[in-house]
Amino acid sequence: MKLFVDTASVAEIREAHSWGVIDGVTTNPSLVAKEGVDFKTRILEICDIVDGPISAETVQLRAEEMVPEAREIAAWHPNVHVKIPMTREGMKALKVLSAEGIKTNVTLVFSLNQALLAAKNGATFVSVFLGRVDDIGGDGMAVVRQCVDVFENYGFDSQVLAASIRHPLHVVQAAEAGAHISTVPYKVIKQMFEHPLTDIGLERFLADWEKAMAELKVAKA
Ligand code: E4P
Repeated sequence: MKLFVDTASVAEIREAHSWGVIDGVTTNPSLVAKEGVDFKTRILEICDIVDGPISAETVQLRAEEMVPEAREIAAWHPNVHVKIPMTREGMKALKVLSAEGIKTNVTLVFSLNQALLAAKNGATFVSVFLGRVDDIGGDGMAVVRQCVDVFENYGFDSQVLAASIRHPLHVVQAAEAGAHISTVPYKVIKQMFEHPLTDIGLERFLADWEKAMAELKVAKA
């Protein structure tokens, strides 16, 4: 499973990338707005850090405007994947963009029906916002599982991207479900490294080492 970091913060992306585990980056208008920077400049900065798929979202609602906007965003860098919302207008735009070979990420997907429509129109990635499904009492991971199974059954090329991940267990479950990609907030990637037994184990190894070295020194003296 590929691991993307879900942030528009250059500091977070740089740090997560330094750990060697990041395959790509997803942003959305809310994440970019939080940064208070120019959209294109920030996407290009991110492309300089991570050599992998970088998602940048359209903000137009009508296909007629979304298509030229998506073409422009896609032209910024070969790694840019244009995020298209799961709406009828979005799917109309997606059909045109897919035919032009533009890489896309259909966003705000909450059901298998929506995912199927995006896959039929050639989405590169289909982002299932599982955390937001959980927020309203649904089972977001069940949607991820359905998408993985159905895409495989019918040989769709679209990849299932588990999004709106809120905690490390979501990453575990997305991997078990066979999601092709999980996009994970910086804070959750940090949590993925953590285990109390690792800390205790390391502390013990170092204490034993120090003790043995000190004894050796005494024996040699
Ligand atoms: C994915 O591309 C989205 O940016 C993200 O996962 C949304 O997550 P949220 O529901 O925590 O805002």
